Amino acid sequence: MNYSMLLIFLWILPTFVSLSFNVNTTSASTSVVEKLCNKTLNPSFCTAVLRSNHRSQNASAFDLAILVVDLALANATATIAKIHSLYRSEANASLKYYFALCEAYYEESLVFLGVAREHL
Ligand SMILES: *[C@@H]1O[C@H](CO)[C@@H](O)[C@H](O)[C@H]1NC(C)=O
Ligand SMILES: *[C@@H]1O[C@H](CO)[C@@H](O)[C@H](O)[C@H]1NC(C)=O
Ligand SMILES: *[C@@H]1O[C@H](CO)[C@@H](O)[C@H](O)[C@H]1NC(C)=O
Ligand SMILES: *[C@@H]1O[C@H](CO)[C@@H](O)[C@H](O)[C@H]1NC(C)=O
Ligand SMILES: *[C@@H]1O[C@H](CO)[C@@H](O)[C@H](O)[C@H]1NC(C)=O
Repeated sequence: MNYSMLLIFLWILPTFVSLSFNVNTTSASTSVVEKLCNKTLNPSFCTAVLRSNHRSQNASAFDLAILVVDLALANATATIAKIHSLYRSEANASLKYYFALCEAYYEESLVFLGVAREHL
């Protein structure tokens, strides 16, 4: 359900990381968000997501990179719960198998996101 959202986060993540080295972090937070989001594929989605989170206030580029990973983690976690409930209510064995597979891939994404967060 939110697979594309996760892909977007994973896609913009390296952008945030690479930009964190050349964005002036002393300037106002809205301006940091704008500067960074302006360089992503979907600036309006990026600014909307970041601005709607209180942690983006006064945030440096580094803070925003952490925030993006945290949002992706929260999103993936919620999606795993959704997939798991679909898995539990599915009677068809082959579909059940695919839900289990899908859940396993999402679990794996949590691991990678955790690693990404630690290496920022
Ligand atoms: C960052 O912004 C501050 C305030 O606008 C400015 O004084 C400083 O020179 C800037 N630093 C860089 C590296 O651009
Ligand atoms: C973002 O991009 C738009 C259009 O290219 C430009 O008008 C605006 O000044 C940019 N904002 C920042 C903060 O770079
Ligand atoms: C952001 O900075 C402004 C001005 O320094 C301050 O009033 C405000 O409390 C800060 N917000 C957060 C969430 O730190
Ligand atoms: C995932 O993130 C998007 C964008 O912030 C949000 O619209 C959506 O509700 C989130 N999904 C879940 C399951 O948390
Ligand atoms: C299970 O789902 C698959 C894929 O939709 C379908 O092809 C298959 O016929 C279903 N099996 C049963 C026993 O309903």
